[in-house]
Amino acid sequence: MCGIVGYIGPRNAQDVLLSGLAKLEYRGYDSAGIAIYDHGEVKLAKTVGRLAALEAKLNGATISGNLGIGHTRWATHGKPSDENAHPHAGCASDFAVVHNGIIENYLALKEKLLASGHHFASETDTEIIAHLLEELWTGDLFSTVLKVLEEIRGAYALAIMTKNDPGKLVAVRKHSPLVIGLGDGENFCASDIPAILEYTRDVLIMEEGEIALITESSVECFDLKGNSIEKKVFQVTWDPVAAEKGGYDHYMLKEIHEQPRAVRDTMSGRLSDDGRKVMLPELKWPEGYAQAVDRIHIVAAGTSYHAGLVGKTVIESLTRIPVDVEIASEYRYRDPIVTDHTLMVVISQSGETADTLAALRNSKERGIRVLAITNVVGSSVAREANDVIVTWAGPEISVASTKAYTTQLIALYLLALYLGQERGKLDDVFVNGFLKDMKELPDKLDEILESSPWIEQTAKDFAVWDDAFFLGRGIDYAVALEGALKYKEISYIHAEAYPAGELKHGTLALIVEGVPVIALVTEDSLYEKSVSNIKEVKARGAHVLAIAWAGDEEIGKSVDRVLYIPRTRTALAPVLMVAPLQLLAYYASVARGNDVDKPRNLAKSVTVE
Ligand code: F6R
Repeated sequence: MCGIVGYIGPRNAQDVLLSGLAKLEYRGYDSAGIAIYDHGEVKLAKTVGRLAALEAKLNGATISGNLGIGHTRWATHGKPSDENAHPHAGCASDFAVVHNGIIENYLALKEKLLASGHHFASETDTEIIAHLLEELWTGDLFSTVLKVLEEIRGAYALAIMTKNDPGKLVAVRKHSPLVIGLGDGENFCASDIPAILEYTRDVLIMEEGEIALITESSVECFDLKGNSIEKKVFQVTWDPVAAEKGGYDHYMLKEIHEQPRAVRDTMSGRLSDDGRKVMLPELKWPEGYAQAVDRIHIVAAGTSYHAGLVGKTVIESLTRIPVDVEIASEYRYRDPIVTDHTLMVVISQSGETADTLAALRNSKERGIRVLAITNVVGSSVAREANDVIVTWAGPEISVASTKAYTTQLIALYLLALYLGQERGKLDDVFVNGFLKDMKELPDKLDEILESSPWIEQTAKDFAVWDDAFFLGRGIDYAVALEGALKYKEISYIHAEAYPAGELKHGTLALIVEGVPVIALVTEDSLYEKSVSNIKEVKARGAHVLAIAWAGDEEIGKSVDRVLYIPRTRTALAPVLMVAPLQLLAYYASVARGNDVDKPRNLAKSVTVE
């Protein structure tokens, strides 16, 4: 996730771009840059670091011009550095491009461009676009961009300008957000409304596969084939604070709704074209390493630990490698039994959690190879691990982790499939079927998120209680733990997760008339046993909400309320099941009048022991 902004009009472009980028830093802040058309040249200023570093670099100087684009980066391809910062220019610096998203086929395109003599200045996927513009130049920016779009695959929001056709800005959307701001004798484009709200409240919300040709006096929209389309002007009525949350009341709700995009991005570029293989080129494992691994230790804290529990189930079932999942603050003080071929997997959204980092360091001292799954490219965990799989959730602002969890699950599925296929345990047909199901997850998540009003009402009903119990068996239990954590950390209601079969060994004593019980019922092989456990709590008066597969009419007979989720294979159910649990926690917190994004006593990144 990155932020892009563009401007054309009578104002000083630099001022508009810098103020716009300041509003987009929530989307990424490891480097920043601008490009401005200044006296016949495209001039660039960019640097690693936050926007303040760019302002310091400009040091009060202004690149004067009325057309420009800007970018604030959250690194995906290539570390945070001056070279990798956007905008990117081609060999002759005639063009400037800013990009939010991932170009999946950039390596193949880069090879071709290198072979035809192009020189690259960065490790980014984005830079190929600038070179393609040079290569395919027609004499007109808009038609050249159309030709470039035929070559690239992936997710993108782009803003593009050139000195060869000045007075124009072209902006494109495919799977990454983009809005166009309409001014009086000036126009704007940006990843998000807050970046332009200071200047206009009239916007066009760009949809998938739409391009805007922007001049200072006009905005024309087209589809990817160049056919003209009509768009309705949207009048923004939100106040600036609400606008920063995309119109949602809280960052948490915004981030819950970002999950379909985050899941899609984390898969992007990691599946072969025929959808039969997982590719993880970021793993620099020695020859034969995947075959030699004989034990895996997953180490993490909190929500990341819960993702690890799902990872264990999936890795063990797809690879038959024994997996232990441990809480980082415990593991770091243990003397764990490791073999020469133990792989350690640390999971950390922030990449800065002190206990997780300490556990990583201990393991490296023992000579264990460490793979990090993290959301922050330049974090300590990312820098110190031997290998890194980055989850492309984008910055997570709310303290309660949501989209980081779902993308951690995606990374773990990909790892499990990769190990399984490299070890010859999984054939192409199986991998193909699994990946097909994974690709359907974003749409299914969207469907679940539409049930928000129903969940809001349920949460209001439950929030009057001071307890809640979350039950599940097998993989459902791992998700129940995450559901209970989310619920307690933001609603401050006591919440416990139990393996459903364990209740009668003590916890059943806590079940009283009316107490909310949330039962997760997607483990097909344990379905009947789960229903028996539900009956046990029902018999003691509990009020049961079941989260079950669509089409499971039977379950309705045993519970008080059911939320149905679209079917997928059981291994993937956690990605779908967690969304209603996050919403339940969110609305319970709102019902109790809590500060959802900043729950008491908690911090986003726990850098102390
Ligand atoms: C809960 C939550 C925490 C974090 C935990 C680990 O919503 O966010 O439990 O998951 O503090 O943080 P990371 O993943 O940054 O290491």
